[in-house]
Amino acid sequence: MGEVDPAYFQQPEHRPKLEIVQAQGIPLIDLSELTSNDPSQQPSENLVEEIRNACRGWGFFQVVNHGVPLETRQRIMAASKEFFAQPLDEKRKVRRDEKRVLGYYDTEHTKNVRDWKEVFDLTVEDPTFVTASHHPDDQEVDEWHNQWPDFPPHLRGACEEYGRAVEKLAFKLMELIALSLGLRADRFEGFFKDQTSFVRLNHYPPCPVPHLALGVGRHKDAGALTVLAQDDVGGLEVKRKSDGQWVWASPTPDAYIINVGDIIQVWSNNVYESVEHRVMVNSERERFSIPFFFNPSHYTVVEPLEELVSNESRAKYKAYNWGKFLLTRKASNFKKLDVENIQISHFRVPELADALEGALKLN
Ligand code: OGA
Ligand code: NI
Repeated sequence: MGEVDPAYFQQPEHRPKLEIVQAQGIPLIDLSELTSNDPSQQPSENLVEEIRNACRGWGFFQVVNHGVPLETRQRIMAASKEFFAQPLDEKRKVRRDEKRVLGYYDTEHTKNVRDWKEVFDLTVEDPTFVTASHHPDDQEVDEWHNQWPDFPPHLRGACEEYGRAVEKLAFKLMELIALSLGLRADRFEGFFKDQTSFVRLNHYPPCPVPHLALGVGRHKDAGALTVLAQDDVGGLEVKRKSDGQWVWASPTPDAYIINVGDIIQVWSNNVYESVEHRVMVNSERERFSIPFFFNPSHYTVVEPLEELVSNESRAKYKAYNWGKFLLTRKASNFKKLDVENIQISHFRVPELADALEGALKLN
C-alpha cells in the first residue's frame, strides 16, 4: 500500500472516533399495515404518530415490511459488486464528465475533502430533464441520460427494477409524512412528476487510514427524502439531535434507512429538520450501500408550504429553484472549489431579532 493522498484527510475536528456509539433509538417502523391492507385504506393514526416522532426526534428512521422485494435488493447489490470488482479502466468507460453527469466516478468531494469511495449514479427517469445551467437567468433545459456498462450485462435491468420498487416506497413515505404534518396524503405527489430522483451505487473499499478519512464526509442530503440500503458491514453515522453525538446506524437485515432531506425541512418550515450524517470506513472490509435520492422536478420552486405558514409561524426560507440548486451542488462535488457548498441556510429568512440587530448596526 503506497502513501495515501492527503486530499482524503479530514480536518482533525471531523475525524471519526473509531470506537462505536450504538445508535440506540434510531426508530424502527413496521410498515406492514401499508403492504398488507387494502391500499385505499388510510394509514392508522399510530403509524402516522410513529413517523411524526421519528421525523421530529431524529430525522432518521428504519423501515421493515416495506414492500420492496428482497430479491430486487439482492439482485442490484450483486450486480453492483460485479461492476465495482472490475479494473478501473473498465469502470472508466462509463465515467462521468462535465457533460455526462451520470455514471461512474471516484473523485467525489464532500465539503472539499475527498471521499473514500467510488460510485455509479443513474436516474430513475431516462431521460431526466434538468436545468442546463445554474445561472438564474438561463432557462435552457438539458436531458440527462443513463450510461450503462457492458458488464455486468444485468446491471441495467437490476437497477431499473430496483428504482421502480424504491420509488413506490418513497411515495408511500411521502404520504405518511404529509399526514404527519396535518396535510392531505397526496400533498407532495405533484412535485414528483418529472422527478430528478437518482439511485447511487456506493462502494467503500477497505481504507488504510480509517482514523483520518471518511467514506462520505459529514453532510445533509439536499433532496426531499433518502431511502438507503446498506449491507451488513455498517459505517453510517448519524448526528443525534438530542446531544450532537455521532451514533452508529446498525445494519438491520432487509431494512431501509430513511432520512428527511433539506427540501422537507423547507417545505415543513423547520418542523422536520434534515440531519447531518457521514460514513466511516474500515481497514478490513469493503462496504456497499445504495441510496435512492427522491427529488422533485427541476422546475419545483421550493418554499415553506402555505398551510404551515402563519402570522405566528412565518416562512423561514425564501423560495429557491430546485434545478439550479441541484446543479450548483453537482458542480461543487465534481471538483474541489474554493467556495462554500450551496446550502439551504443561504435561503434562510433572518429571524426578527437578527433583522433588528442588522438594522441597528446600519444606523
Ligand atoms: C449519501 C450517504 C450513506 C451510506 O450517499 O448521501 O449518506 O451509508 N450515504 O452510504
Ligand atoms: Ni447522505
